[in-house]
Amino acid sequence: MKFTASCAELSGLKADSLILPTGSTLENSANTVDQWSNNAISTAIASGEFTGKSGQVLVLNFSGLTIQRIILLGTDGLSNQRQVKKAISAACSALNKTKSKSALWIGGNLAENIQAEASIVAQSINTSVYNYKKQAEKEKPNLESLVFWSDLQSETSAIENAMSYGAAVGDGMNIARQLGNLPANICTPSHLADQAISLGKAKLNKASISTEILDRADMQKLNMNSLLSVAEGSDEPPKLIVINYQGADAKTKPVVLVGKAVTFDSGGISLKPGRGMDEMKYDMCGGASVLGVMTALIELELPINVVGIIPATENMPNGRATKPGDVVTSMSGQTIEILNTDAEGRLILCDSLTYAAKFNPDTVIDIATLTGAVISALGKVASGILSNDQQLANDLIESGTQSADPVWQLPLWEEYDDLLKSNFADMANIGGPQAGTITAGCFLARYAKDYKWAHLDVAGTAWISGANKGATGRPVPLLMEYLRQKSEVSSD
Ligand code: BES
Ligand code: MN
Ligand code: ZN
Repeated sequence: MKFTASCAELSGLKADSLILPTGSTLENSANTVDQWSNNAISTAIASGEFTGKSGQVLVLNFSGLTIQRIILLGTDGLSNQRQVKKAISAACSALNKTKSKSALWIGGNLAENIQAEASIVAQSINTSVYNYKKQAEKEKPNLESLVFWSDLQSETSAIENAMSYGAAVGDGMNIARQLGNLPANICTPSHLADQAISLGKAKLNKASISTEILDRADMQKLNMNSLLSVAEGSDEPPKLIVINYQGADAKTKPVVLVGKAVTFDSGGISLKPGRGMDEMKYDMCGGASVLGVMTALIELELPINVVGIIPATENMPNGRATKPGDVVTSMSGQTIEILNTDAEGRLILCDSLTYAAKFNPDTVIDIATLTGAVISALGKVASGILSNDQQLANDLIESGTQSADPVWQLPLWEEYDDLLKSNFADMANIGGPQAGTITAGCFLARYAKDYKWAHLDVAGTAWISGANKGATGRPVPLLMEYLRQKSEVSSD
């Protein structure tokens, strides 16, 4: 997909489709397009066909102009980034349905900030052309190019940079979605490791990247008995994937991203009920989001250091599987009584968090489809965030707002941590029926004492169920926004 910015005379531009975001009152460029199209837009408003209400999409077909159709997008009443993103993606899906090869986006009527608008447009274009089958067959989308038009000549290169950024985020999301949507018999720990190895072979100009895969024997040497206890019940070999992206100088401490990748979560001996169990192929979406972020970093070569750690395993109930009541000693030396084998995410993350310290991190962020309880608390709108550092939590909350990939904070108070008490080990792996997202966070916090850490529970946001079942690519936009801002601060 080719994205360019232009401030040239509108009448000289050609495209299959023109997208015009506007309210019911036509201003500036909307007026120009209206005159140019023989009042097609004011006519649609006068007839009531187009109300200008936020998110409304109306396709007007033409013949004889340098464009074949105008896609009107209503902008009246848009009041936050989430609504702006939703409106832009509605226009992008409508555009995708027209099978246009070229598009002309009339910018400046949407977000307060034209760069933010351009970036969301590029991201939405790239995510709107995503299709599970097409992605698997590496088929090219119909749309080949988009020109983002604005009358701000001074902003042209800033707009193009913003689109490169948005496009990379969209590409990263599509990688995360495809891995999420792949069935668990294809997307095994070994498959994820292969994807990481090919990312590690990318040839970069300014940055460098490498991948290391730790197998069962390596993990045994490191005493990762908690992680290994989850893999015990499966015939599929576990992999600990480590990707090292270096875009800044070697002295700069990295951000470490730890992504849960349970490629299928049957619950283990604490077997899950059958209904909807297919969706537990999505239990690797945290890990997939880390691979999505790496994809975007490779595309952008951001000046920052990022290490991705992805513990990948199945959670299955064979004859060797961990039994409720079993006690394991984690890599940190702390012992864990496994009261429920379905609380496996924290068991693979805790050893990964201990391992993360080896990279002398500036910050560690883990991303996991960790608890059903977060869906009860926040639904499918916000991801949960829990952190041992309020500044870090605030930064991530702000990045989530700006990227329309929101997170909402829950507390990590000691009253909740008390619920993890065990008579037979340093802690149990579950805290009982209440506050499940928080007790899971308290469990992880016990392994993240040596650095600034945040935990993102994306169980509600990483995929959607029902007729449109599919992975969303979240929280790649949030993580990229955080990393982009951090890279700008540190390279100033
Ligand atoms: N992967 C699940 C969490 C999950 C459940 C995500 C439903 C999305 C939808 C996780 O491994 C799990 O099973 N968690 C248990 C924890 C409980 C046993 C303490 C849960 O949430 O029920
Ligand atoms: Mn589970
Ligand atoms: Zn799980």
